Amino acid sequence: MNKLDILVVGGGGREHAIIKKLAESPRCGRLYACPGNGGMADLAECLPVSATDIAGMVALASEKAVDLVVVAPDNPLVMGMVDALAEAGIRAFGPNKAAAIIEGSKAFSKALMQKYAIPTADYALFDRPDDAMAYIRAQNRFPVVIKADGLALGKGVVIAECLEDAAEAIKAMMEDKIFGGSGSRVVVEEFLTGPEVSVLAFCDGKTLRPMVSSMDHKRAGEGNTGPNTGGMGVIAPNPHYTPEVAKICEETIFLPTVRAMEAEGRLFKGCLYFGLMLTPKGPKVIEYNCRFGDPETQAVLPLLEGDLIEIMEAVIDGRLSEVDMHFKQAATACVIMASGGYPGSYQKGLPITGIAAAEALEGVTVYQAGTARDAQGRLVTSGGRVLGVTALSDTPQAALEQAYAAVEAIDFEGAYFRRDIGRY
Ligand code: AMP
Ligand code: GLY
Repeated sequence: MNKLDILVVGGGGREHAIIKKLAESPRCGRLYACPGNGGMADLAECLPVSATDIAGMVALASEKAVDLVVVAPDNPLVMGMVDALAEAGIRAFGPNKAAAIIEGSKAFSKALMQKYAIPTADYALFDRPDDAMAYIRAQNRFPVVIKADGLALGKGVVIAECLEDAAEAIKAMMEDKIFGGSGSRVVVEEFLTGPEVSVLAFCDGKTLRPMVSSMDHKRAGEGNTGPNTGGMGVIAPNPHYTPEVAKICEETIFLPTVRAMEAEGRLFKGCLYFGLMLTPKGPKVIEYNCRFGDPETQAVLPLLEGDLIEIMEAVIDGRLSEVDMHFKQAATACVIMASGGYPGSYQKGLPITGIAAAEALEGVTVYQAGTARDAQGRLVTSGGRVLGVTALSDTPQAALEQAYAAVEAIDFEGAYFRRDIGRY
């Protein structure tokens, strides 16, 4: 059997989950992670190339003669890392720059949805703060949603409750440039309500294969309060995503999106992430991402039955319709353990204990994100979201109970986690 040496770009919990799944394949050869993290070291060789260093990544992939590069984070995809790898003759999983714009520019994605009648919130696009404010004033409908056009580490969305909040957000994005060039243009959007659903789907440009649905919990605080974060926990499948809803989404959102990208000459090959809201008027798109979600991947990939290497190769080669892909009839829950203070400032370098005890529990896997090894080789915290404590079980309730039992086994100073994951 020909084995593949694979380099995974990125260093978070999502990349840990991808690496674990790749390692299960009988075709998996050597694994590299760039930059990787403290928890991957037993599966992959972690090399200090930054995820956004395109020239460095191409050079490393060539030097190691890898057979496949998996580009997981949004930044390198939007910057064109897959194109640069392809030019150097290196196979890569992930959309090219022309297709990654579906996440890279909300101006693009909103115009795409409008042109192809894909359900989403009504919106207007502005490149001058005065015009944006005049529009918000004239509309006088609150809350109103203000989004930076470009990438903003998941923090580029403000839900403004009043004119003053809106003015503050517009000023911060467009004048103070807190997100740099990403806020030069803003989308002002209708506020929608309803349960949120994340659906990740493999897509080879023409065929789309949705994975099991999931539910992220973006707010930092219990009861869905407090600031937005990169995600504090996930359950899969999402209880709101019934087969009827799935059918509507496939017909009105997923397939039209794939066809729209094809019609625009931007074939999407990779993992397409649909952030959906199930509104009283039907499912609508909140956002597209051009990649696996984090932490959704930590809950979704453990349920995947099938060979991830084979699926990724089929995506690249346009053979996705031929691939065998199923999901376990089971449930997962992922609880994020974060550094005290996250998403604000927090301490780093705090020793972490209890991961082995947690993983000794039935069905538990601890995906590491913000972890590193210190000079004495101890596992320590190194980021905001530290661990994704994940359990797989027969029922959602059992998965949640097991995930929380595992969380209890783990300790680091100031560890913060939400106790209400899965209750929304
Ligand atoms: P995003 O970074 O685009 O995923 O947005 C972050 C969060 O803001 C989403 O998960 C939603 O909870 C919320 N959000 C974004 N757009 C809207 C909208 N049009 N209406 C209501 N909530 C929204
Ligand atoms: N969990 C949200 C994201 O990956 O953007």
